[in-house]
Amino acid sequence: MRMVDLIQHKRDGGRLTREQIYYAVQGFTRGDIPDYQMSAFAMAVFFRGMDEEEIADLTMAMVNSGDVVSLAGITGIKVDKHSTGGVGDKTSLIVVPLVAAAGVPVAKMSGRGLGHTGGTVDKLESIRGFRIELPNDRFVRNVNENKMALVGQSGNLAPADKKLYALRDVTATVNSIPLIASSIMSKKIASGADAIVLDVKVGSGAFMKSYEDAKALASTMVSIGKSLKRRTIAVLSDMSEPLGTEVGNANEVAEAIEVLRGGGDTRLREICLTLAAYMTVAGGAYGNYDEARRALDELLHSGRAVETFRKFVEAQGGDPAIVDDPGLLPQAAVHVSVRAEREGFVQSIDAETVGVTAMLLGAGRATKEDSIDYSVGISLRKKVGDPVKFGDVIAVIHSNREQNQDIAERLIGAYTIVSDKPEPVPVVHSVIE
Ligand code: URA
Repeated sequence: MRMVDLIQHKRDGGRLTREQIYYAVQGFTRGDIPDYQMSAFAMAVFFRGMDEEEIADLTMAMVNSGDVVSLAGITGIKVDKHSTGGVGDKTSLIVVPLVAAAGVPVAKMSGRGLGHTGGTVDKLESIRGFRIELPNDRFVRNVNENKMALVGQSGNLAPADKKLYALRDVTATVNSIPLIASSIMSKKIASGADAIVLDVKVGSGAFMKSYEDAKALASTMVSIGKSLKRRTIAVLSDMSEPLGTEVGNANEVAEAIEVLRGGGDTRLREICLTLAAYMTVAGGAYGNYDEARRALDELLHSGRAVETFRKFVEAQGGDPAIVDDPGLLPQAAVHVSVRAEREGFVQSIDAETVGVTAMLLGAGRATKEDSIDYSVGISLRKKVGDPVKFGDVIAVIHSNREQNQDIAERLIGAYTIVSDKPEPVPVVHSVIE
């Protein structure tokens, strides 16, 4: 077999066999197939696409390129969640303890963030003492005892994906549904999940800007899951404004705790309850979605969800006192109010602009080597649909810089304020299973 023939076959619209796909992925992982051929392959897939069987084969070839985590030591159906990411997305911090409180084990591996704000792992590291690396036996023991553990991605999971993603990033081939879907699903399957709930974000702050693209990605991932015998459900959710009111790291942990206590932002709570309901049904805790919603609501209000979070923080070496007093989390030195420059209703808040602004404060990484300042971020005091008067505080900047005028100007630019109240946009657009 020769890589050049395979590239040509795909370039001309042909379909690839399992054997051909494994040949490309294995050769590339070993270093026998050079970057330029793999880049050409990615471009051929970008233009010609792949059918369901090819995508499932590509996914499994990437899973088998490295280690596959065995969660056999954990009793019960292991359900994982994945979000395609967005600004202010702290859903894992809420959903994982909530699902664990319902008795469904969650052995979660999460990534660090590159871009806007930290990933789940970075956010948790804003808790003093929190250890994101656990030896495997301790990881399994924590899940069995507390029904949850959350660690950083370690080991050699789907190395082919890691290598291919780095090429895609610099060859304009990221935005291809077969490539994105196989990339995401390969990591979930390599992490040992039995069932997967995907949160596919749609809107200005998301990877997928249009509903049609997000739906196509979601359907592709659900069909990969089906063909690989992993129950997979995709929730399409709105990311046309940042999720919740906090964007940063420590402030997002504080917001997650508020939701775990049954309070917090309504839209954030709604998406978390939706994801948790699908996860707990897939995990066998409840018979159907409505029953799960009622039970999960009770877990938030009875304090059991926040208690699970407290135990989880303690079990991973973090200071559990932050749960009762989030003021113990890192705090910025300066808090600057940003005020509305006209009266009306908030029509939109450009999530991407808010994310970039938080990154400029130090809440995210522009490059892999950057370090994160956990204490800085943005609190959005007005959200889409809210009425505002001239001079109302629309946002607060938490900063460790002396000068924040440029940040305030960016935030004012992110808000669109109009005279007429906009039509509400639901946080959950649709569900594909
Ligand atoms: N996230 C991933 O993990 N892979 C992609 O290709 C895109 C987003």
